[in-house]
Amino acid sequence: MRKSFVVALVLLAVVLGGAWAQGKMIGVAMPTQSLQRWNQDGSNMKTQLEAKGYKVQLQYANNDVNTQVQQLENMVTQGCKVLVIASIDGSALSSVLKEAKDHKITVIAYDRLIMNTPDVDYYATFDNFKVGVIQGQYIEKALNLKMAKGPLNIELFAGSPDDNNATFFNKGAMSILQPYIDKGVLVVPSGQTAFTTIAIPAWTSATAQARMDNLITANYANGKKLDVVLSPNDSLAIGIVASLKNNGYGTAAKPFPVLTGQDCDKANVKAIIAGQQSMSIFKDTRTLAKQVVDMVDAVMSGKTVPTNDTKTYNNTVKVVPSFLCDPVFADVNNYKALLIDTGYYKASDLQ
Ligand code: BGC
Repeated sequence: MRKSFVVALVLLAVVLGGAWAQGKMIGVAMPTQSLQRWNQDGSNMKTQLEAKGYKVQLQYANNDVNTQVQQLENMVTQGCKVLVIASIDGSALSSVLKEAKDHKITVIAYDRLIMNTPDVDYYATFDNFKVGVIQGQYIEKALNLKMAKGPLNIELFAGSPDDNNATFFNKGAMSILQPYIDKGVLVVPSGQTAFTTIAIPAWTSATAQARMDNLITANYANGKKLDVVLSPNDSLAIGIVASLKNNGYGTAAKPFPVLTGQDCDKANVKAIIAGQQSMSIFKDTRTLAKQVVDMVDAVMSGKTVPTNDTKTYNNTVKVVPSFLCDPVFADVNNYKALLIDTGYYKASDLQ
């Protein structure tokens, strides 16, 4: 008797909960389908939100800022209650977010901070400074910089200047590498170190490839050894590897330099297995999606939104309360445990 009463109550709660969530629409705006990670981010968000009974508007903007603004305008007029946005240009959304605020919509910045607006409520990401630090430390260890006298030759790349993350990645990596440059253990033969000079707009592989070609032609033509390339992510690393291959790297006489990356895209994990790229940062998109779904759920049910950092991410108008997930590195020694044993990829994905 008592048991069936409890079962009935539970059933009622489930039905009511479902009915309550029904029709509550959440907008999810992703930058592009051209990079593997954003497809995963988008589909993880959709699946996890739908499992909780929300309707989901998922849009990709082909890396075009106007398209993304238009998609957000539609989400506002169609009555979305929360917008989850991985921005293309973090500074280009002020007016559409003002509209969202006028409609009492909550805005969560996904992975990339939205800049220069009061109308972003929360931010969820991986610790971006730490991503750079781990890349720097990987280089430090791979080249045994603590003991090395050098000079070892390094070239530096950074991400898209309109993406706030790119600065964080760069600052994190340089916090480890700059002291070695100052001591002369690392040298940058091209002399190109300024963020604006080394940044690759829109994180484009082809632009990274072209820049690497130019660096090699101008600075490494006379057999000078390239020991290491700092790449902030995998889309740049793909271009850099292509350039290195075209320029004869990958032989005993001219081995691939140490090369960093980020995202553990399938193509890059394959490059790690093939010895062309040294490491990648693993940011489990399932974890970030789950965190953001928890935030959405808290907003929708009037609960306290989970955050764990209320200091770091100042968007020039306010410090945006954030939840930072923890990045780790993957390389040839641990990728199986991290990526296959956890079900992130199937072994066949990497063949
Ligand atoms: C993300 C990286 C990604 C890059 C290019 C950054 O904002 O944090 O994971 O590689 O954008 O899409």
